[in-house]
Amino acid sequence: MKKDTILVLDFGGQYCHLIARRVRENGVYSEIVPSDISVDALAGIRERLNVRGIILSGGPASIYENGAPQMDRGLLDSGLPVLGLCYGHQLIAHYLGGKVDSSEIKEFGNAIASIKESSGIFKGLDKREQVWMSHGDTVLAVPAGFVVMASTESCPVAAFASAKRGIYGVQWHPEVVHTKNGARIISNFLFGICGCKATWRVDDLIGGYVREVGRAVGQGRAIIALSGGVDSMTTGAIASKALGARLIAVFVDHGFMRKGEPEQIDLLARKLGVTYIHVDARQRFLERLSGVTSPEEKRKVIGNEFVKVFEEAAGKVDADYLLQGTIYPDRIESGRSKNAVVIKTHHNVGGMPTKIKFKGLIEPLRELYKDEVRRLASSMGLPEDIVNRQPFPGPGLAVRIVGEVTYEKLELLRQADHIATSEIAAAGRPPWQYFAVLTDTKSTGVKGDARAYGYTVAIRAVESADAMTATFSRIPYDVLERISTRITNEVGDVVRVVYDITNKPPSTIEWE
Ligand code: XMP
Repeated sequence: MKKDTILVLDFGGQYCHLIARRVRENGVYSEIVPSDISVDALAGIRERLNVRGIILSGGPASIYENGAPQMDRGLLDSGLPVLGLCYGHQLIAHYLGGKVDSSEIKEFGNAIASIKESSGIFKGLDKREQVWMSHGDTVLAVPAGFVVMASTESCPVAAFASAKRGIYGVQWHPEVVHTKNGARIISNFLFGICGCKATWRVDDLIGGYVREVGRAVGQGRAIIALSGGVDSMTTGAIASKALGARLIAVFVDHGFMRKGEPEQIDLLARKLGVTYIHVDARQRFLERLSGVTSPEEKRKVIGNEFVKVFEEAAGKVDADYLLQGTIYPDRIESGRSKNAVVIKTHHNVGGMPTKIKFKGLIEPLRELYKDEVRRLASSMGLPEDIVNRQPFPGPGLAVRIVGEVTYEKLELLRQADHIATSEIAAAGRPPWQYFAVLTDTKSTGVKGDARAYGYTVAIRAVESADAMTATFSRIPYDVLERISTRITNEVGDVVRVVYDITNKPPSTIEWE
């Protein structure tokens, strides 16, 4: 049976993913598609999905701007309910003959909306609602046949509707938490307007994924690179159910993992009952990094070497298919990044280019968000610390050592990081991401009665939702003090511990 689906048209808004996630949180499947998707392409999608409605996202452009994103107007006559948010709201008004003012005045932040019609998407809302706005253009008059549903002080048509046509526009962002009853607006649209059924559950997907991998590989063999992260581990667990020992799991130990991680990966891979290859490439990576001090160069060297080592291992076994733990945001972002500026070259075991010719690439988690993968991992019985593993860069500790990476520095950082992370975790409610960094600053200290000249370790801990922005965590001083005392006592050659109090932007989360 085709699943009930809401399509989100992407006009470049920063909350596009959030809209799709809010829909899924209601038990309804959602996919993001380009804003200029044609009516014909929609018909194609409807062959595989039961599309019940369309949401138009916000976007940074003004509708009057040259090259402003457009949509196929035929979608407004397709008979499917449409909800336009922010830019989407303005675009509907513009296309259908309403009046949109492109003022220079931008409105950003909390506002109070006066709700004129507590029906349709606003069913159950109060007369006054706290909403979150972020826009430049403003709708001043509704198209013929539409009614004004809400207004704010600066926005006479903050929401409009034609219940008959099933078309709705809302200037604010119901998908962000600052809009108090935003979740209600979205669920009203899904269930009240589109008639969706809440039948989409992540746990129900496991069987289908296992069958999908089984069907794709047939009697052949597949290979996967395990990184210890939740995406590759969950993909491995799914594929192991389908293929057993016909799955070859490869763990390339580049030597930049945290304390205990390689052992944990070994243990888990063995439990999965797959063919397991542990490649100890620690020496090789260190040699390649000898003399390399630039962060970008480091990342490139490690990324290239990783592919080489994996290809060598893959060349020795006979694998027809390559499995990858690619998840939904990986696909959308890589499709979009053509205009993005490179701040850091991310290396990831998912999305690995390889010269080996496989019959096919299988990505069972390609439709899922990270929190959905974590739920899946948990219901498949993967250990808690894999399920909730904090983000860890592909090049690992190598980008947490400022300057040249050496064996001694790695050992030192591994120890310091273990102390910092276990103290922070033991204090309860751990931050989103937290770790230690080995800076290349040496300074003077005093250990025992003697002068000591040694390393400075920095502690980094941040709160974030998606790693795009982050704020430093307010770690209690007594926790920081314990970390500092233990690191300077237990890790030789460290005489100073500092705490990084920079947000992202302007800094990044990792130091390199
Ligand atoms: P930055 O340092 O760019 O990091 O603010 C943002 C998030 O991405 C993680 N990170 C990486 N993840 N491969 C990855 O898979 C990488 O090369 C990489 N570099 C950074 C980082 O830990 C943070 O969560």
